[in-house]
Formats: sequence, structure tokens, C-alpha cells
Amino acid sequence: MQIIRELSELEPAVAALRGAGDTLALVPTMGALHAGHLALIAEGRRRAAHVAATVFVNPLQFNDPGDLARYPRTEEADLARLKKAGCDLVWLPTPDQLYPQGFATNVSVRGVSDRWEGEHRPGHFDGVATVVAKLLLAVRPTHAIFGEKDWQQLAVIRRVEEDLGIGVAILGYPTVREANGLAMSSRNALLSPEQRAKAAALPTALRAVGKEIAAGGAVTPALQRARAALLSGEFSKVDYLALVDSRSLEPLEKAGEPMRLIAAATIGGVRLIDNMAVTLEQQVGR
Ligand code: PAF
Repeated sequence: MQIIRELSELEPAVAALRGAGDTLALVPTMGALHAGHLALIAEGRRRAAHVAATVFVNPLQFNDPGDLARYPRTEEADLARLKKAGCDLVWLPTPDQLYPQGFATNVSVRGVSDRWEGEHRPGHFDGVATVVAKLLLAVRPTHAIFGEKDWQQLAVIRRVEEDLGIGVAILGYPTVREANGLAMSSRNALLSPEQRAKAAALPTALRAVGKEIAAGGAVTPALQRARAALLSGEFSKVDYLALVDSRSLEPLEKAGEPMRLIAAATIGGVRLIDNMAVTLEQQVGR
């Protein structure tokens, strides 16, 4: 696995890897890698001839400086994991490489980024859209793979790619979960083992609402019950728990496909997000 730290080394390394036009999948990450990221690398290996990853804790996407300072950084372990997973190249940019003196461009996506994470983390999606555009333009992969755990982020990235005509196939990969159902996230490392066990109440609540809605139950009371269940357990705050159109992220008061349940809630001072697809049960004979 090639480890690239200098921007000047990136283009020749990618060119050598791709040779006469081999496909290349890119997995952008912020490090603190877990099995969810490694599943993205494995998917990259299935989809393309070569796989590259980036590890960069992007300061632009943190609206809270405390959150940025606390974000786990585990470079040595990350490199070992990427190598073992069969990653061919990893680029570890510095903030100066991506945002040199005088950098003044902001990629901002209207509509799909306005609500939910966009509302609770002002500026977050501008930071994500800007860094992802920069990474895709610097590496120029044929494919880029992102986890579906960040469902709204994936929708924002698809919009950026399409609107800017970057020419990269954006692929989502299903959320990888711990045995208790908790979505894998680098932030889980900030929870105690006890909190981690109790955090499974979040996917449990989403699954319960999903079942009710799939079976034809009313949406709003189901969402209210799930919110109350989280707050009566270990969760101190629920920023949102909503049924949305899975492409536009607009809220739905009634079931309508394609739909997704999305949530953000805080446990032990750590803010977690999760989401699940909801499909209406077939009305046999009707
Ligand atoms: O999902 C993440 O880890 C980050 O938001 C991303 C896409 C790597 C951009 O910094």
C-alpha cells in the first residue's frame, strides 16, 4: 500500500496505479477506522480494479470546535487496517494542502442539505461538500464509496457530483452494525461500554417505528412514541426523529415510497445519527 503525504506525489501515484485506464474506487474517510470503513474498502475492491482511501479530519465540517478536538485520531492503526483490507493507496492530506493560504471557495448545496443535520450543525454540509469536491477532483477516481449511515450526507454528495459534473460514480453502501444493532461509527469510541450497549435503543426505536409504518400505522404517533422511549432511557436529547422522502429528505406525514427514517440523538454527551429504510408491507389480495 502506497502512503501519500505530499500533494505532488498524488498524481503520479494514481497514474501509475491506473495504468492504461484501470478503474479506481475512492473511499474518503476521517480516520478512526472501524469495520464499517473496511466494508467500504471491500466494496471498492469488488467494484474497481484498485482502491484508494483518504484519511483527513476535515476542520471545515465541524461547527463545534470541541467536537473537532475530541474527534478520535488513530493514524497508525488506520494505516495497518487499510493495508490489511487490501487498499492500494492512501492519501493523508494536511489542511494546508486542501485549504492553502487564500482558499476562499465554498461548495454549498441548497435543498437537500437544509434540514436535519444541516439545521442542527450549521455549515456542516458546506464543509463536507467542499472537501469531497476537492478530494474527487484531486484523486479523479472512477467510483467513490460512502456509507449509508450518513444518509443525508450521501444525498448531498450525489447532488454535488451531479451539479458540478465531476464524472465519478457515487455509490452508497449499507450501514454496518454492531451485534446489538448499533450503527458502527467512529464516535462510538467516545462511549463507555455501558453507554454503547444502551445506545442500541436508537436502532431499536427506528426498527419499531419502521414496523408500525410498514404495517399501515399512523406516522406521527409512532414517531412520538419512539422519541419518548429514547428520552425515557439513556438518551438526553433527540435532535430529530423523522420519516422523510429518501431522495429529497423532505419530511413525510404519511407513508410514501421511497421513504427513510432518520434520527440524531445524544447519549453520554455523544451525538449519534442513524437511519433505516421503510418499505410498505404488500397488501396481499388487494
Ligand atoms: O463521512 C465522513 O467520514 C466524512 O464526512 C467525509 C465524507 C470523509 C468527508 O470529510
